[in-house]
Amino acid sequence: MRISVTGKRVLVTASTEGIGKEVAKAFLSEGASVVISSRSEEKLRLALSELKAISPQVYGFRSDLTDRKSLEDLVAQARNVMSGIDVLILNFGNPPREPSYFEETNLEDWDYAVSLYLLSAITITKAVLPDMLRQKWGRIIYLSSWTVREPQPQFVLADVARAPLAQLAKILSHHYAQYNVTFNVVRMGSFRTPGALKGLEELAKRTGRGLDEVIEAEVIRRTDVRRFGVVGTDLAPLLIFLASDLGSYITGAVIDVDGGTSGCV
Ligand SMILES: NC(=O)c1ccc[n+]([C@@H]2O[C@H](COP(=O)([O-])OP(=O)(O)OC[C@H]3O[C@@H](n4cnc5c(N)ncnc54)[C@H](OP(=O)(O)O)[C@@H]3O)[C@@H](O)[C@H]2O)c1
Repeated sequence: MRISVTGKRVLVTASTEGIGKEVAKAFLSEGASVVISSRSEEKLRLALSELKAISPQVYGFRSDLTDRKSLEDLVAQARNVMSGIDVLILNFGNPPREPSYFEETNLEDWDYAVSLYLLSAITITKAVLPDMLRQKWGRIIYLSSWTVREPQPQFVLADVARAPLAQLAKILSHHYAQYNVTFNVVRMGSFRTPGALKGLEELAKRTGRGLDEVIEAEVIRRTDVRRFGVVGTDLAPLLIFLASDLGSYITGAVIDVDGGTSGCV
C-alpha cells in the first residue's frame, strides 16, 4: 500500500509557528508543494528559510484569518504559485484574550473568535471549492481541538466558535463528496507549541502554580498516553493519509488525535 501526497498542492493556514509549521514540514518531506501563511512578515521569513531546507517547493504569504479580503488574496496567490490547490488544511491561531471565562469576554472578543474560526473557514472553503469541484479532486481538513468534544470553561471563545466546523464538514460532505472532494475535522490534543505554552504560562500565573506543575496537571495527567503529542509523528501521518488518494472514503468525519485526552465517548 502506498500512501502518497507527492505532487499535491497544499495550502496550510496559520503555519509560521507551532502545529501549522510542523504540518507544512511533513507535507514538504513527502514531496508536496506547500503554501504557508500568517500575519507577520518576520515570522514568514523565518519559517520559509527553515522550510526551504526541506524542499524548495514552499511559498509563503501574509494573511490574516480575520480579514476576508486577505484570505481571498491568499487563495488567489496560492493558486497562482502552485497552479492550483488540491488540499486545504485550515489551521488557526487563538483569540488574544484566551484563556478567559465567559464573564471576562466582551462582544469584540466574540466577533474576533467567530471571524477567526468560522467565517475564515467559510471564506476559504468558498474560495477553493470551485477549482476542486472542476478538477474532481480535493481534500479539506479543518483542525479543531479536543476541547470542542469536551468543552472547557476557560476556552469558551474557541470552543463555541469552532464547534460548527463539524456541521460545516458534514453538510459539505453530503453535498460535494460525490465529486471526490472530502471534508473532515481533526480534533487535536495537546502539542507543545509557542501558543500552547503561552496559554499554560497564563494559567500558571492565574493559579499561582509553576509552569511544570501546570503542565503535569493539565496536560500529562489528563492525557491517557501521558505525554504531549508530536505533530510530525502523531498528527501528520493521519493528515497525509486523509490528503492522499487512499483517503477518499473518509469524509464528513470528526477524528480525534488527542492521546485519549477527552473523557467523552
Ligand atoms: N497546541 C495545542 O496543544 C493545541 C491543541 C488543540 C488545538 N490547538 C489549536 O491549534 C491552532 C494552532 O495552535 P498552535 O499551538 O500551533 O498555535 P501557535 O503556536 O500560537 O501558532 C499559531 C500560528 O498561527 C498564526 N496566526 C495566529 N493568529 C492568526 C491570524 N489571525 N491569522 C493568520 N495567522 C494567524 C501565527 O502567526 P502570526 O502570529 O504571524 O499570525 C502562528 O504561525 C490553534 O487554533 C489552537 O487553538 C492547539
